Amino acid sequence: MIALRCAGCAEVPAEPDALACAACGDLLAFELDTDRVHAHAIEEISRLRKASADPRDRSGVWRFRELLPPVADDAITTLREGDVPLIDAPRGASYAGVDELAYLHLGMNPTASFKDAGMTVAISHARERGARAAVCASTGNTAASMAAYAARAGMSAVVIAPVDGISAAKVAQTLDYGAHVVAVEGDFDDALRAVRALDPATVAVVNSVNPYRIEGQKTAAFVLLEQRRWETPDWVVLPGGNLGNASALGKGFREARGIGLTARLPRLAVVQAAGAAPFARAWREGRDLVPVRAETDATAIRIGAPASWKKARAEVRFSAGTVLDVTDAEIAEARAIVGRDGVGCEPASAASLAGLRKLVASGAVAPDADVVCVLTGHVLKDTAYAARYHASEAPHANAIARGIDLADYLNLVMLTRA
Ligand code: F0G
Repeated sequence: MIALRCAGCAEVPAEPDALACAACGDLLAFELDTDRVHAHAIEEISRLRKASADPRDRSGVWRFRELLPPVADDAITTLREGDVPLIDAPRGASYAGVDELAYLHLGMNPTASFKDAGMTVAISHARERGARAAVCASTGNTAASMAAYAARAGMSAVVIAPVDGISAAKVAQTLDYGAHVVAVEGDFDDALRAVRALDPATVAVVNSVNPYRIEGQKTAAFVLLEQRRWETPDWVVLPGGNLGNASALGKGFREARGIGLTARLPRLAVVQAAGAAPFARAWREGRDLVPVRAETDATAIRIGAPASWKKARAEVRFSAGTVLDVTDAEIAEARAIVGRDGVGCEPASAASLAGLRKLVASGAVAPDADVVCVLTGHVLKDTAYAARYHASEAPHANAIARGIDLADYLNLVMLTRA
């Protein structure tokens, strides 16, 4: 019902743990035979499983296990990931210039980023295969997620991270879960190159070049649609770095339609940070991707040679979507707005709201469009960034008032905030 093939030439890999096609070098992808799955059955099973006590049923990923590559029950390693909220965002809507807006907050996962939905599948598969160690290159979130799931599975975990510019909160979180962190000279792209050179038969490489990761992450599309009673939004806007998540969400929406859970596809808008935007540039110019040296304060997406750009391009094209970039200043402003809805997110996540605002301003998205912005990481993932922002952009919000009349001060606050 689900088979692994090369995403480029459709060759079936001989090695079960291969990460790239031996014939053409492209990434591998699972292909689901949607004709053999019935929409009503999936809808019904998913609804019933939500009321079950079985940990697999309480996971927003494994609840959809008929749509995933099979993994033996005793290998499944879950932290009840995946069931994240779709939250309405009135302030975000007015900032972007649309009538209504909702956030799919993937930062509400167990390790506070979208990576958990993919990691539960990648680590469960690795555990079934008897892997003793997992390894990844990371700008921080993959690291924390791998570390947590590897800990649950009794596996060692090794993170290869760029020496500069990854959030200290993410490193601390990763160390808490017991992983080893190896800093390398260079950036994420250098780290990923080193990891991809390892033999996947001896160690589980759990970056999004691993097709099991993509399968887990595609369930975010099902969770989004399910909360909307399987009504498709017009647009889904998300940040893009290594481009695994855009590939995964596009695949999820395609499969939902293939099965008959939904009647149409949302258009995907992938948003990159201007200093790390090789995909946006390739899209604009209608050419293949040319890697860049990436630079942005949104460190999670400081990636110049995205591994999954071909998959992501196919999904964006298929959905009649688009790719764009936004400046670091636009990201900072949008992130502050996400906070004002009482939600909050890390900088990279806010690229989605910043991108939506730009798409509305240019007329690409209509003000009455039905839009979901994907938030990929929790506000506490990068507290140093937030503290810097409040110190420089909004010092009044940081005021520590001493020796004042509290009642007078509250009156002032209520006047200015009304
Ligand atoms: N948002 C956040 C918060 C991320 O951590 C990442 C990627 C992305 C967006 C981009 O997703 O790579 O699938 O296009 N973080 C990776 C990491 C690279 O190592 O944690 P993508």
